[in-house]
Amino acid sequence: MNVDGKKYRTIWLAEDGASVEIIDQTRFPFAFETVTLRTMEDAAHAIRVMQVRGAPLIGATAAYGVALAMRADPSDDSLDAACSALLQTRPTAVNLQWALDRARRSLIPVPAENRMEAAYILANDICDEDIAINMAIGMHGMELIAAISSTKREGEPVNILTHCNAGWLATVDWGTATAPIYMSHEGGIPVHVWVDETRPRNQGAFLTAWELGHHGVPHTVIVDNAGGHLMQHGEVDIVITGTDRTTATGDVCNKIGTYLKALAAKDNNVPFYVALPSPTIDFSLSDGVREIPIEERGAEEVSRMTGRAQSGSIETIDIVAEGSDVGNPAFDVTPARLVTGLITERGVLEASRQAIAAAFPERVRASA
Ligand code: MRU
Repeated sequence: MNVDGKKYRTIWLAEDGASVEIIDQTRFPFAFETVTLRTMEDAAHAIRVMQVRGAPLIGATAAYGVALAMRADPSDDSLDAACSALLQTRPTAVNLQWALDRARRSLIPVPAENRMEAAYILANDICDEDIAINMAIGMHGMELIAAISSTKREGEPVNILTHCNAGWLATVDWGTATAPIYMSHEGGIPVHVWVDETRPRNQGAFLTAWELGHHGVPHTVIVDNAGGHLMQHGEVDIVITGTDRTTATGDVCNKIGTYLKALAAKDNNVPFYVALPSPTIDFSLSDGVREIPIEERGAEEVSRMTGRAQSGSIETIDIVAEGSDVGNPAFDVTPARLVTGLITERGVLEASRQAIAAAFPERVRASA
């Protein structure tokens, strides 16, 4: 997408053709900075500390991490070590495992002297495919927004609520939940986005608001608890979120708080859609609540807040009473029964085993 007139992806090969550039998402919204990844360890670090985050971008970074490892040492042992180190970085987003499985499967048969080149080509392919997937999600999702828009008065916006950041910063480009929003906006459909701030890391307030602002998409940042109230008052037409892992049965794991939005949406007859690129489907799982590993992150994310002080300096302050225990589960699971539909690259599907299997039969076969 464009940042101040310059076209960016979130990850790209540096001019030296070897190292990899990323946008440092820990610096948003106060600074736009890039970081160079030169080794597999740099890539693992970037995922772990969330310089890159969002399920599809985690997968793409891991693929480049494998390429960097193959550059240093293309042996089988190095490939195995890289895949296992990268897999440890974050537990919930299944795109990480998907990208590493794909890398391992395609590189093992390649002779060591050609592995480095093959690994870079694969990482680049994964990035290009992610963009194509997100554009297809955007086209399908735009139809849903257009249908709602056709019920409104001329010029009245469709109000879309989103949680966390499933925007272009979470992918290689376009985003998943935001792709239908960007396409609608560019296609002349008036939209307005309710952006959940998404405590504790504020991906909504820091990232989604920044993205939408740079694209001129009208939006309003709200506290995480405001969604139910807005739905009760008819101010939300549709909810669209992303996902980090969706089971074969359509249970959706996403940023903590998504489940509560789905409950509120159900109670208020607001359609609740999930933008789902197929690499985010885990065909080995059937029960999201019991089977998806939920990342528990550090207490300091909850007990501290970072922001820009009136003086202009970036400061971190404590916001929890001293001595209190703090918990920080980073994701939750919305059961399929609360999901109106899954917006995939192959169309909008019911959140059910049958619909998912019918849309992605080759993935079902591969997982058998
Ligand atoms: O902890 P994060 O910021 O990596 O969590 C990201 C999300 O929950 C996104 O909604 C999800 O990865 C989908 S991104 C297209």
